[in-house]
Amino acid sequence: MSTVLVTGGLGYIGSHIVIELGLAGMDVVILDNLANSAIDVFYRLKSMARKDIEFYQGDVRDSKILNVVLSEQSVSSVIHCAGLKAVGESSLKPVEYYQNNVAGSLVLIDAMREAGIQNLVFSSSATVYGIDAPVPYVETLPTGGTSNPYGTSKWMVEQILKDAANAAPKLSIASLRYFNPIGAHPSGLIGEDPQGIPNNLLPYIAQVAVGKRAELSVFGDDYPTADGTCERDYLHVVDLARGHVKALDWVKNNTGAEAFNLGTGKATSVLEIIQAFEEASGVKIPYSIAPRRPGDLPAFWADATKAEKLLGWNAELGLEEMMADTWRWQSQNPNGYRSNAKEAQPDSSVA
Ligand code: WQD
Repeated sequence: MSTVLVTGGLGYIGSHIVIELGLAGMDVVILDNLANSAIDVFYRLKSMARKDIEFYQGDVRDSKILNVVLSEQSVSSVIHCAGLKAVGESSLKPVEYYQNNVAGSLVLIDAMREAGIQNLVFSSSATVYGIDAPVPYVETLPTGGTSNPYGTSKWMVEQILKDAANAAPKLSIASLRYFNPIGAHPSGLIGEDPQGIPNNLLPYIAQVAVGKRAELSVFGDDYPTADGTCERDYLHVVDLARGHVKALDWVKNNTGAEAFNLGTGKATSVLEIIQAFEEASGVKIPYSIAPRRPGDLPAFWADATKAEKLLGWNAELGLEEMMADTWRWQSQNPNGYRSNAKEAQPDSSVA
């Protein structure tokens, strides 16, 4: 009875979590609607995993499919990663973001309650600290004051989970506040595959490196930081995934709702990232300075002491691994999960 349900388990972060759960000896069932993921991820995960992995295609807002999954599989814990995550898009489609992220979480908690499942790890974000929080971000700070519907949706779900745990004393919930996850699995088989033009820094750099984009725009060099570019707390996605395994242990042995920062505690600037990527890949990244991107904060990083003390987790992989693994993934899969051969052929569906 140690099956873990991972919602969004074929996504960038979810897929890395599935690998680490398998390594920790757990059976995994994935629920994913393939909205921002590919079925090929499942086949790759199956080929890599030593444990059994099941997959159900479906949406977390669909209580029927959730009930089927929970009744067919002996799920004892849930890691909830399913959701929409593009910050800019969330301001254009706020209702979709609240539908997917907030309503989806409500349907999930309800289904868990019906099935008598008490353990939940929730994929939250450092954006819940809002735009005025002092750095480093620590869990004792007030949250809220977020600047976009994506961040607000994560904040809302955290509040809902807290209330749910207060009302049901057996519930145990860990909300994991991610800083900036980057990198890929060291096998080169699993990584980040954004659709269209990447919003985030590392996928963009990686696509410049393989020649898919001409140059990187560095959004602003007049911030009050050491080199004028924004600073973030980048952490390796494999470290992040391992944090979920630790959090799962925690929820199994505790009750109540707690939030944990998952970050390295170190801030790195955009220019430092470019340099580190160039060193790891041996590829020069052409860039130019562009205006600031609206909504960007100058610098933030984690105080990750709580995760270290209570979960026994800290980030072990450094910038070098983050860059080398990003490069390995991108250079081995220049078209992501879409087959390279297929992309090279003319589109036969065009009449
Ligand atoms: C990092 C830095 C940009 C692209 C967001 C979300 C967060 C989480 C991760 C989750 C910034 C600069 C970027 C580019 C650039 N989301 N940049 N040129 O904004 O810190 O965090 O993604 O799913 O919740 O807020 O990450 O990677 O977009 O940007 O100069 O082409 O890189 O200005 O300083 P961000 P990012």
